[in-house]
This record gives sequence, C-alpha cells and structure tokens, in this order.
Amino acid sequence: MSTDLLFSPFTLKNLTLRNRLGVAPMTRMSSPGDSIPRQDVLDFLVRRAENGAAVVYTEAIVTDYESAQGYPGQARLTTQRQIDAWAPVVDRIRAAGAVAVMQMFHCGRMAWPEVNPAGRALAPSALTPQQNNPLTGRPYPVPDVISRFDIDHVIHGFVETAKGAVAAGFDGIEIHGAHGYLISQFLSAHTNRRDDGYGGSAAKRFRFAREVIRAVRPAVPVERLLLFRISNWGVADPQVSLFASAAEWQEVIGLLDREPLDALSVSTYDFREEAFASGQTMAALTRRATRLPLLICGGIHDRASAEEALKDADIALSGKSILLNPDWVEQVRAGRPLPPRRAEEANVAYTAEPLR
Ligand SMILES: Cc1cc2nc3c(=O)[nH]c(=O)nc-3n(C[C@H](O)[C@H](O)[C@H](O)COP(=O)(O)O)c2cc1C
Repeated sequence: MSTDLLFSPFTLKNLTLRNRLGVAPMTRMSSPGDSIPRQDVLDFLVRRAENGAAVVYTEAIVTDYESAQGYPGQARLTTQRQIDAWAPVVDRIRAAGAVAVMQMFHCGRMAWPEVNPAGRALAPSALTPQQNNPLTGRPYPVPDVISRFDIDHVIHGFVETAKGAVAAGFDGIEIHGAHGYLISQFLSAHTNRRDDGYGGSAAKRFRFAREVIRAVRPAVPVERLLLFRISNWGVADPQVSLFASAAEWQEVIGLLDREPLDALSVSTYDFREEAFASGQTMAALTRRATRLPLLICGGIHDRASAEEALKDADIALSGKSILLNPDWVEQVRAGRPLPPRRAEEANVAYTAEPLR
C-alpha cells in the first residue's frame, strides 16, 4: 500500500503530529471586557482537535494593553484569569491528540485606538494604509513613530504573553510576523522608512523581529515550540507586495533560519500562486532558503489541494474551510468534494452565532 502522506505523522522537534492538517489562527473578536473568548469560541477549537486536526491554533492574541489591539473583542493572555480560562482548553485539545499553539500579535499601524486602553497607535514609520478601516469606515490613525522606549515595552508584551501561554500549557507559541501587522511593518520597506538600526537594508528591517524572537525564546521551555508566521501580503492594501523580490524574500527567510525557531508558517492567498514572477510558489521559494519545518496556508480546501500543498511544505493549515466545516479533516480523508470558501462566508466568525 502506498503511504498516505497527508495522514502520516510528522515529527516537529519532540512532538509527533498525527497527520499534516491543522487549524490556522483565526481572530473571532469574541472577548470584550476581560479579553477572554466566549465559551463557544473555545469549544470550537476543542471540537476541531476532537475531529482530527493535528495542530490547533488560537486566534491572534494581543500582546499588550497599550497599543497592540487592532480589533474589538480580541483576547489577551497575561493575567491569571486569562491563563485559567485557556488552561482547560489546552488540556482538552491535547487530550484529543492535537498540538495547541498560541499565536500572538501587535497590530502596529492597523490600529483602532479606541479599543486600546491607552489609545495609542505605533508603527516603524508614520504612514497609514491607503484604505479605510473596514470596520469603522474611517481612515486608520497616523501612528506614532515607535521609539526605543516603546520598542522595549512592546517586546516586553510579547514576552509576557508567551509566559502566559506557557503557564496555560500550550505546546507552541507563534510570533505573528505576517499580514501587515507590526512585525511585518518592520520587515517591509513599504512601511519601514527608518534610517536608524531598524530600517534600511533587509537585515536592518529584520532587527525588530530578531529582538522579539530572542527575547521570547528564553520564556519558552526548550521542549516547546517557537514558530514564526510570515507573508508577502497584508490585510490593508492587499495589492501591495510587502517584499520587493524573490531574492529579498529568501534573504529574510535565511535570516529567520538563523534564529532559535522550530518552524516557519507561510501565509498566502493561494498556495498555488506563482511568487514574484519566479516560476515558483511561495512555499517552494521558502523551502529553498531554510531547513526549518514549514507550514503552508492559503486556499487549501480539499484532499487534492492539501496533497499538492505538501509538495513544498510539511503541514497544511486551513482557515476558512475548517472554520465553516467541523468535519473537514475527516471529509478530506474520505476525498469528499469540498468547495473553496469565499472570504464573505467566513464573516460568520465575527458574529455572536456559535459555530459548530
Ligand atoms: C475569520 C478569520 C480570521 C483570521 N484571523 C487570523 C489571525 O488571527 N491570525 C492570522 O495569522 N491569520 C488570520 N487569518 C488568516 C488565516 O489564518 C489564513 O491564513 C487565511 O484564511 C487563508 O487560509 P484559507 O484560504 O484556508 O482560509 C484569519 C482568517 C479568517 C477567515
């Protein structure tokens, strides 16, 4: 019998993933007030583990109480109450045989100051996206140019949140360096116009990411995972290529390769798309620039697409398909015809409607 790669185990450091399919991080905006998600949102994650996913990500968890939050009702993980709310969820995910990963983010210029307790917006440079905030219908605020003092404070938020995740029992911690949020804003010359040590060449633009990774690593026990997510697209001005060329992308991947990370997660709109007119996909380009295990996401919706995605990656993550279908993993295994999902269908994630 030929081996079924999709449903074969994968060793990630000292953890064994039971198959190659996982739940991508998905913000649910269900945590007003105490920054703890609604119970049905937590149960949704557990159900995905019970139904066969090998990796279950949390939504992007906000790293500080000053400037990190970009959407209403986002979760945090720095208080004992928040840790106590997540710990049983992590236990249930692990008991169901999946690996639990906490993703953490700072929104940077994608800010909605009214939802931040301190009302600030911070970014590498004082540049706003061209598009309005789709949730407010108004322009994004002009961010303060992040100072050395702010940088230390923001990095501290990443460290504290990682500690919260470790206390809650998570197997892995992911630093969200994708989608045009703060770390991604530093990485891209599109949003980083600094002329100090944090801007200029790709290596200098990488400095902030490196400082975050190196500050967080000691807070994550060696047997647990530290991952980094990266993309060439951002949620605002989606037509913009955040990196200039395949060479620049691979240079940044090479810089990440030298950091104390356990895996890289590459986020695309569509994993099949050609990247930078290189004749290669984003995953293939990435694979050639690092030895780190790779997770790939974007447009994986059925068995054929998941199998194809694994040509140049180790784990296939699903966002919309698994959001909208609790039985997705088993239906992929069965080779059922499963449609690609549209972004509008996924908006149900942000409503009060409990998802199965
Ligand atoms: C409702 C929703 C919320 C999302 N929130 C996050 C998030 O918090 N962090 C993140 O890195 N990506 C987030 N994403 C992007 C997904 O992780 C994924 O990269 C994207 O949906 C593409 O995969 P898909 O084609 O399988 O949906 C979100 C996507 C959706 C649909």
